[in-house]
Amino acid sequence: MTSSFLPVCRRVVAHWRAIVVLLILACVAFLVARSDEFGGFELILLALLLIFIASQIFWLGRLVDVGELLIPGRPRRVWLTIVTVVVYLFVFLYSYPEWGLGHVIRAADYRPQIVLIHAVFWWWFVGSMSAFLLVIVFGAVDRVVRAAEWVYRKARPAAADAEAALQSSGRRRFLERTAVLVSATPFLAAGYGLLYERQNVEVVRQRIRLARLPKAFDGFRIAQLSDIHIGPFTTAEYIRRCVAITNGLEPDLIALTGDYICWDPEAQGEVVRALAGLRAPHGVLGCMGNHEADMGIEESITRLFAAQGIRMLRQERAPIRLGDEMLNLIGIDHGNDLAADAERQVEGDRRPQRLKALVMPNTVNILLIHYPHAFGNHELGIDLTLSGDIHGGGQLSLDFIHRGLNLSSLMGVPYIRGLYKNGGEQLYMNRI
Ligand SMILES: [Fe+2]
Repeated sequence: MTSSFLPVCRRVVAHWRAIVVLLILACVAFLVARSDEFGGFELILLALLLIFIASQIFWLGRLVDVGELLIPGRPRRVWLTIVTVVVYLFVFLYSYPEWGLGHVIRAADYRPQIVLIHAVFWWWFVGSMSAFLLVIVFGAVDRVVRAAEWVYRKARPAAADAEAALQSSGRRRFLERTAVLVSATPFLAAGYGLLYERQNVEVVRQRIRLARLPKAFDGFRIAQLSDIHIGPFTTAEYIRRCVAITNGLEPDLIALTGDYICWDPEAQGEVVRALAGLRAPHGVLGCMGNHEADMGIEESITRLFAAQGIRMLRQERAPIRLGDEMLNLIGIDHGNDLAADAERQVEGDRRPQRLKALVMPNTVNILLIHYPHAFGNHELGIDLTLSGDIHGGGQLSLDFIHRGLNLSSLMGVPYIRGLYKNGGEQLYMNRI
């Protein structure tokens, strides 16, 4: 990190053809995706992949730079590049889920050394890509400033020369420090997220006013937990801590809105056992997420939950009674995200009919659904939807600046986190 900004620029210049081509392809894919809904998501993933490849070419160049500085005898650059690329490809392919040993995503192995590999992989993945984008933006701004200076010098040569002599060394130092800071920030932020923020549980309290709510339910409290995703970074012990926090809030009802596992079907027993301690006078009820459908465990995990007194609502409703009054709680499956498109289409088309049959007129209807597909369909008569799925607070988000500054919004997802209103309908997206 001690090298200056100029070698950084030289690396970009040395690989400019590959970087420019990949960035253009990424932008084209992104634009096509935004203009065409069908297949848009896949094109955005392609754009991200291309940006990732460009960023890795850039950082490999930086590693070679550092190698040249550190290794005595100054080996020839070409050999250093070959060794760096071979070592990098070995580490990356070893970690990559489809081509390598597949331990990064679809792992059932929570030994400390494997968890450490996961952590380093994801730290590098997030940090290197974000830092690359920041360096590109920083380099572009620097180029624009230099172009403006060049124009100024042409227009007023005498004044500009005197000023340039005064400023050049100070400016260079400033640029060097800023460049190092800019490229280091995402790595530091990713490390902070991984080591600290991930385990920093935040209780979000949201007051919701429902026009048709019976008097008896005034002040009724629902605690929602979503996207637990038991795995190397969300251990059973951590989930038990969340359970204790939830019970401590003394909710009247607890709602679980899907994605209990990551990719490991064998983890279902452990997540159910960890959640079994949840307690609320009106019960613990939930719905299925896409991970349960994708891994084919909807039936089995529903049975495991039932054995612990937790009821999964699968195209079902449950009356919640208080005195003579009642709420109608509905739960709908998310469906399989990995299913073929036609299959998903059929599943999606069925959803409104299924819901319609479960809604009770002249009653407050609360829907538990992993992603709010039906939100805004006023004919259905849903008063409140509780959802999750998007990980609106956790997937590359700058939401402390603005709710719209995150990867999901960029990809065109309309509901990210917090409360949304549409006519008389309300939606709460769990921040996760
Ligand atoms: Fe999820």
